[in-house]
Amino acid sequence: MPINSEFWNYFDQIASPKLAVREKTFRKIFNHLDKLDGPIIIVETGCVRLENNWTDGQSTIMFDKYINFRDQDSQLFAVDINLNNVTECKRLTSNRTQVHCDDSVHYLNDLSIQLQENKQFISFLYLDSFDLDEHYWFQSAAHHLKELASVMRCINKKTLVVVDDCPLNANFVPTTDNQLALIGSASIGGKARLIAEYASEVGAKLEFVEYQAGWTGF
Ligand SMILES: C[S@@+](CC[C@H](N)C(=O)[O-])C[C@H]1O[C@@H](n2cnc3c(N)ncnc32)[C@H](O)[C@@H]1O
Repeated sequence: MPINSEFWNYFDQIASPKLAVREKTFRKIFNHLDKLDGPIIIVETGCVRLENNWTDGQSTIMFDKYINFRDQDSQLFAVDINLNNVTECKRLTSNRTQVHCDDSVHYLNDLSIQLQENKQFISFLYLDSFDLDEHYWFQSAAHHLKELASVMRCINKKTLVVVDDCPLNANFVPTTDNQLALIGSASIGGKARLIAEYASEVGAKLEFVEYQAGWTGF
């Protein structure tokens, strides 16, 4: 029987077609977590805001199910700046999940100081707050880089850092035969655009990239 088989039964029921572009990468995430020993700590920014809104991902609900099926001691901390979303998220998750209403950068800084005092590291950091403006990527990407900076004291080489909503970024020019030619190569865009640059510069290991991108080795 696979580890955490009850969770996987649940996941297989919702995965296709509901998770759509996120299905493969959520599978990778939970497979990764299954390989970790002992209780784990999951930290998420941007919580579930609407039940059954699968276009967002329903991440907090899945992470809550995961810790509950996994063991008695794993923890899930989620933060959102919108009180209505926090209230809804609390309604949709178990008492074990700690959902806080705050700006994520401020909250993560405080949480990471507390975790550090207890000599604890984050096993899985899921960043999905500040919505992406498809016409102006910078504000969202900068906010997610600040989130990573604010918890860096609790990130170790094993921590899986995943960012949602990161479609590839590419530049094209029209060709004389009415086609499009790619200039340079495509790179990770959206919410993860600046984290991807930073990850590459510090030699973090890119574990996967699709609509979500994940790294270890920060
Ligand atoms: C895309 S939704 C999160 C979706 C959720 N992860 C899911 O899978 O269902 C983004 C959330 O980030 C929250 N948010 C935006 N800016 C924020 C900030 N500065 N700090 C914390 N949360 C923020 C929004 O209120 C919203 O609920």
